Amino acid sequence: MSQPMTAGEIARHVVAEAIWAPSVHNTQPWRFTVAGDQAGPRISLYADTGRRLAAADPDGRELMISCGAALFNARLALRSLGYVPVTCVLPDPAQPTLVARVSWPERAAADEFERRLFSQVRTRRTHRGAFDPAPLPPDLLAALRSGAARDGAALRIVADDGRRAALAAAVDTAERELRADPERVRELARWTPAPGSGSRDGVSATSYPARAEHTDPDFPGRDFARGHDWGLPPLSSAAAFRAAGVVGLLTTTADRPADWVNAGQALQRILLTASACGAAVALHSQPLELPWLRELIRTHLSDDAYPHLVLRIGMVTQVAVSVRRDPADVLLAPGGDHAGPG
Ligand SMILES: Cc1cc2nc3c(=O)[nH]c(=O)nc-3n(C[C@H](O)[C@H](O)[C@H](O)COP(=O)(O)O)c2cc1C
Repeated sequence: MSQPMTAGEIARHVVAEAIWAPSVHNTQPWRFTVAGDQAGPRISLYADTGRRLAAADPDGRELMISCGAALFNARLALRSLGYVPVTCVLPDPAQPTLVARVSWPERAAADEFERRLFSQVRTRRTHRGAFDPAPLPPDLLAALRSGAARDGAALRIVADDGRRAALAAAVDTAERELRADPERVRELARWTPAPGSGSRDGVSATSYPARAEHTDPDFPGRDFARGHDWGLPPLSSAAAFRAAGVVGLLTTTADRPADWVNAGQALQRILLTASACGAAVALHSQPLELPWLRELIRTHLSDDAYPHLVLRIGMVTQVAVSVRRDPADVLLAPGGDHAGPG
């Protein structure tokens, strides 16, 4: 019989999967430690505030959403090993960068659904552009909605044509405003490395289309190429009908850091569930980075719930390739929870 894994081995497995979470501009704003006491081993997840987007994300909301997505992966990775994670979100008010502690006191084999989600952790990609006209698998939207609720968030489908157009207009307005703000443009430049740079963070040119794909209504993407000739070539020159997909809003009923972490966990459950069903998701956070537009969306399009992301869900062949830092760079050496960054 094989030896049980040590806490260090478990932590290395968990972190190697957690880092494949989505994060705003692929900032990967997380660090992990593993420690143990009488209560057993546990992994701590810290927000790396040095990677927060000062211009786009002054409150650290998107940073916490990103960490929440990594937390979901960490929990799933423990399930893949047959452990039952016990998670405490923001356990210590004196350490606001300590996002969560996760222990694994009991064992139970992963079920079929958990295994399917886990199989998508490394292959799921953020989609940028339009979708094929094919319909979503039946029951997928219902599964996404109930999944988001399990993590304390809501996925609100915006089906009404007028509201969908209003949301597209909000994305368009925001994108124009962001492109006109020199501070935000400089910040985006920091996280959009040139092709061939070898960078292991930021949005690489292998992950967005060189030519913007327009949809009806149009949800413009971010200007990752910034006037350079960067990005993926079009899959085909055929001017086939390209759809915006099913549009939704990820929301929470309150707007505290714990809600942001929950939104991140729900986001990753949504993305992995969609991916397991062959669907892809495009994310737009542009209008949520402008307080006046976020408030407008909250009061007019999400029944006063706090919006975190605009999602578009659809069927498409994924070709994007993303990058990550080495897990060893984000799993700090043993030394206890206080080794976490401030
Ligand atoms: C909070 C948050 C906001 C995001 N906003 C956008 C966005 O506005 N536009 C976009 O194309 N991708 C957005 N993304 C996706 C990230 O750019 C993406 O996760 C990252 O580049 C890593 O790529 P991957 O998801 O394909 O692994 C966002 C992700 C998160 C977690």
